[in-house]
Amino acid sequence: MTAIDPTRTVKDLRQQLAKWRAAGETIALVPTMGAIHFGHLSLVELAKSKGDRVVVSLFVNPAQFGPREDFATYPRDEEGDLVKLGEAGVDLVFVPDIAEMYPKGFSTTVTMSDLTEGLCGAARPNHFNGVATVVTKLLWQVAPDVALFGEKDYQQLLVVRRLVHDLNIPVEIAAAPIVREEDGLAISSRNAYLSPDQRKRAPIFYQTLRELAQDLESGRGCDSAIVKARYKLEGAGFRVDYVTVRDPDTLKTLEGPVKRARVLAAAYLGQTRLIDNLPVPLPTS
Ligand code: PAF
Repeated sequence: MTAIDPTRTVKDLRQQLAKWRAAGETIALVPTMGAIHFGHLSLVELAKSKGDRVVVSLFVNPAQFGPREDFATYPRDEEGDLVKLGEAGVDLVFVPDIAEMYPKGFSTTVTMSDLTEGLCGAARPNHFNGVATVVTKLLWQVAPDVALFGEKDYQQLLVVRRLVHDLNIPVEIAAAPIVREEDGLAISSRNAYLSPDQRKRAPIFYQTLRELAQDLESGRGCDSAIVKARYKLEGAGFRVDYVTVRDPDTLKTLEGPVKRARVLAAAYLGQTRLIDNLPVPLPTS
């Protein structure tokens, strides 16, 4: 087991990055909140194909959690993460503490309207501004050639693309497909909160979204397909936050039969909030 030594300050991070850049090497960044799982490791693999050096950040960002959310209990395993990332061949792991990221007197934030307001932004009012702020900081600290984000957080991915475009940040944003358990449940650090019974029921979430995507593919209108999906989820004990069909680029609501869309949903099983999404049409393989 070879753990990688963490880099904890922006100063040390930049010193190392400057050496790689001077040698003409490109840099790929994978921002994470730690609790590394196969989803993160798939981003690392993609990052290796996109840059000469791979940097992973581990930072549970308080600014993206609401006052009644799970910041205090969010899964943390720095030691285990450093082993997994060392074994995955990551070149640098940036593990700043809160004072390094938000020094005393910190008072600048990145806020975004429109894309951030619906879906997860409705239930988590300041969440995406917290994400936009920390991602902007990480992109400025690392200045990578490419940064990688998972499609699991689809709205977040679009928010990051938007901020990079709006603020002229010179970085390519690459997306990686959702990694799923064998039974279809999207891998997430928060799956650890599920009880054994909830874990057994959780794949119904994915199955329902798949059926919804298939219904749309076969020409069913958005409204009736959504009603059917919601009914199925509620019947299986989920408390639905939203099930919706959106334009995949703008997240604008779609109506009637659709040719190209993204189905997105968030629902609670007990206290655990699950999110998932799928493209329409579904991939053929
Ligand atoms: O997706 C996450 O893990 C976080 O939202 C991110 C992008 C690392 C920002 O804290």
